[in-house]
Amino acid sequence: MSLLVKGGTVVNADHSQRADVLIEGDKIVAVGTDLNAPEDAEVHDASGCYVMPGGIDPHTHMQLPFMGTVASEDFYTGTRAALAGGTTMIIDFVIPAPQQDVMEAWETWNGWAEKACADYSFHVAITWWDDSVGQAMETLATEKGVNSFKHFLAYKGAIMADDSVLAKSFHKARELGAICTVHAENGELIAHLQQEMLKMGITGPEGHPLSRPSELEGEAAERAITFADVMNVPLYIVHNSCKESVDAIARARAQGQRVFGEALAGHMLIDDSVYQNKDWDTAAHYVMSPPFRPKGHQEAIWAALQAGTLQTTATDHACFCTSQKRMGHNNFTQIPNGTAGVEDRMHVLWHHGVNAGRLTENEFVAATSANTAKIFNIYPRKGAILAGADADLVIWDPERKRTISKDSHHMNIDFNIFEGWEVTGTNRTTIAQGKVVYHDGELNVTEGAGRYIPRPTFPPYYQAVEKARQDTLPKPVDRMG
Ligand code: URP
Ligand code: ZN
Ligand code: ZN
Ligand code: ZN
Repeated sequence: MSLLVKGGTVVNADHSQRADVLIEGDKIVAVGTDLNAPEDAEVHDASGCYVMPGGIDPHTHMQLPFMGTVASEDFYTGTRAALAGGTTMIIDFVIPAPQQDVMEAWETWNGWAEKACADYSFHVAITWWDDSVGQAMETLATEKGVNSFKHFLAYKGAIMADDSVLAKSFHKARELGAICTVHAENGELIAHLQQEMLKMGITGPEGHPLSRPSELEGEAAERAITFADVMNVPLYIVHNSCKESVDAIARARAQGQRVFGEALAGHMLIDDSVYQNKDWDTAAHYVMSPPFRPKGHQEAIWAALQAGTLQTTATDHACFCTSQKRMGHNNFTQIPNGTAGVEDRMHVLWHHGVNAGRLTENEFVAATSANTAKIFNIYPRKGAILAGADADLVIWDPERKRTISKDSHHMNIDFNIFEGWEVTGTNRTTIAQGKVVYHDGELNVTEGAGRYIPRPTFPPYYQAVEKARQDTLPKPVDRMG
């Protein structure tokens, strides 16, 4: 099967050019002007459109068992919604329960993901420690294509990693050439503040942000950065929601440390006024961690993305329907944390990023696809439109409008945090693995067509860190001569 995308402007992270894109099977085989297609080729006219790498969402939680329930979106419905919105790959999380065998959790998540219709990969969370966990990290890194391990500094009494787990896991990750990632919020102080709020009679969703002030995110980010610095390991901080954590990353990067940061579309565009909504269900639907922040933090995140302090954008797609959110009706600490967005990220970031002059088209590609591929070491197989890359791309019509709504979205959740927003600029067509999976509102996906994408250890920046470390290893004083 050949496919020719003709007459568009190809936008990569580093440059744009008027070019055709020729696809054979699941690969791009040529990018150039006036390409000749084989006779049987399916031709897509992209004139007036941008042709960009499909989005990669580096932070999703399909089917996540969490806070006494299971996220309503599974790997099939979630990747289908992703493809509808122009995202052609997700990186999800294997999250072992404390004391659970890590390889067993790995097998479980892999089984769930078999029905995905878009490509996927897995970060693996380290939620507890003994020797078997270290061995599992080794097996995952050397045999299973896992190059990133996640640490939750929040969720005390559940999946939180304490300093001891952090130290052991960071040390092991460095030996393996794997990236350490963290959810940065101080779980100890959150647990304290949650009880304080309940004692004050604050039981509704407004208690959620009150118990998770941005200072606690700043503290945890600083702590993770310090650990990574001392342990000499590259660090990736997920879902930076506030100025404090962004400032911490900026300082570390200014000092030469390899620290990367992710921003969520929601955190960039929504503020904490949502928790004041008089309708309990509506307010509860915005309960996610870290919470939406007071006005001002959103612009700080945009600026950090422009400045290169943050490199990637994600959604933290974790769907809980109204009936699930109501589990915390009398106690906000029991509202399952999470919001949806995998279908909407590309659209809202284009509209509020490119259309608003905050991002160039090339920066959009960097922030939605290429940088994730680079940091997690799958570039340029993913994240670029060039010969040899996977044929995952979008034909993007900058004039096409969409009004976002729970009534028309493909995500398996009865709420949309961007409800009623109109965006200009969306994917007209999504091509994944060389096949048209979405065109003009029509999905044509195959359950199980998604492939697991292994990610090799020691990305290039990691090799640099390791080289610098070897050159500066402390030595004992020789007192014999
Ligand atoms: O509220 C959130 N973000 N739920 C999913 C788990 C996490 O912290 O990423
Ligand atoms: Zn060692
Ligand atoms: Zn998190
Ligand atoms: Zn998450």
